Amino acid sequence: MPRLVVISNRVAVPKARGVAGAQGGLAGALNAALRANGGIWFGWSGQETEEFSGSINYVKSSDGVTTATIDLEHQDIEEYYNGYANSTLWPLFHYRIDLTKYEREFGKGYERVNERFAESALPLIDKDDLVWVHDYHLMPLGERLRSMGVENRMGFFLHTPWPPTNLFVSLPYHERLVKALLHYDLLGFQNDVWLDSFLHYCWKEMGADVNYETGEVTVDGRTTVARAYPIGIDFDFFRSKGETGEARQAGQRLLASTRHRTAMIGVDRLDYSKGLPERMDGIARFFDRYPERVRDLVFIQIAPPSREDIGSYQLIRETLEQKTGQINGARSEVDVVPVRYVNKGQTQEELFGYYRASKIALVTPLRDGMNLVAKEYVAAQDPDDPGVLILSRFAGAAQQLDCDGEGALLVNPHSADDISHHIRIALDMPLEERKSRFEKMIVTVREENVQRWTENFIGDMNALG
Ligand code: F6P
Repeated sequence: MPRLVVISNRVAVPKARGVAGAQGGLAGALNAALRANGGIWFGWSGQETEEFSGSINYVKSSDGVTTATIDLEHQDIEEYYNGYANSTLWPLFHYRIDLTKYEREFGKGYERVNERFAESALPLIDKDDLVWVHDYHLMPLGERLRSMGVENRMGFFLHTPWPPTNLFVSLPYHERLVKALLHYDLLGFQNDVWLDSFLHYCWKEMGADVNYETGEVTVDGRTTVARAYPIGIDFDFFRSKGETGEARQAGQRLLASTRHRTAMIGVDRLDYSKGLPERMDGIARFFDRYPERVRDLVFIQIAPPSREDIGSYQLIRETLEQKTGQINGARSEVDVVPVRYVNKGQTQEELFGYYRASKIALVTPLRDGMNLVAKEYVAAQDPDDPGVLILSRFAGAAQQLDCDGEGALLVNPHSADDISHHIRIALDMPLEERKSRFEKMIVTVREENVQRWTENFIGDMNALG
């Protein structure tokens, strides 16, 4: 079994407080992949340095995962992380062309940092290692490594959506980015929708030979394979969190504070792709339509801040706070407040407890590569009294959790009416239906877990001729 070298922008450094909501799904998934396969995880420390030196800080965790991190300069962080990655690619890949910033300096910073990642990671790669690069921050990294003589098997996985061709072509030098991607041997996407968009681009804009059966994309005599690998959660590990006192206490605290009201939960990084203001509009619509039900339902939104140096993130936070205040102002009684907004991350144990104590989850991103909160919510449910998942049809997870209309309740996250309507259905859903929907979803969540995802991707990397 070859050793794994995982490279991603962010690395979950061992012993950091596990604020699952804040770090997104990627860190947890990669930690699980490395625990199972052994190897090294390279990335940015999240720290700033005066002058880039490339010096690597190693930490070995008790579960055998070695992390190797570098610090970046202020200008790198501005142009690469806040700039090209999160002000250009992130909004564009989430179909938010209105928020996408096209700055020349961002592009240069992105190339520079990818070069720095490649130079720093190069000495860590041994002859037979499998190199697995993650996410939109590092698309050109494979090409940079190839130019430095790396001939290892290399794969890339995109954790976000891939946008339709007519949006993607708004990116200056879009072709250069895709050409760089084609230096990997294997490209992974979260589902068929994003995969098809990518293959369509290659065919239409690059004149590639595309084999839709096998995912082979051939340009200038070089073939790369592109396939869908829906990411899952570390099911057993997450379930084990539910055995802890911390999880039980968290659940009890929530139940004690909500008393006779049904708790409905949302957990998201505070990101405009997550549809939080639109979700609040749906909740406001529900309370407008059914004012008496303010005594039946309490909504708890956990939304840890994210990418706070970027203007669009500051704005989304203000908007969310205003909307929450408006709902509470209009609908509260002296003894009842309809919405609780928690602006900080929680441990996985706490989240497990909150999920289990909540009889409805509202997961309504406007666009999402996958969304692991939806899967964690299902995993945390009591099979004898499970809650209902209300899920955006635009989350990658909808493909798996719809279960032919018999799993999650799918909604249009842009429609306040649709959200309100489905909250009413979820609130009044009989136990038998809740159980049958849960039983369908739990099979997928349990079976199509992160171990399966890793095995499939690595298995395919190994099998490539
Ligand atoms: O899944 C998308 C992603 O950008 C990950 O790459 C990242 O770890 C997570 O969201 C959280 O974002 P950030 O690293 O910018 O805090």
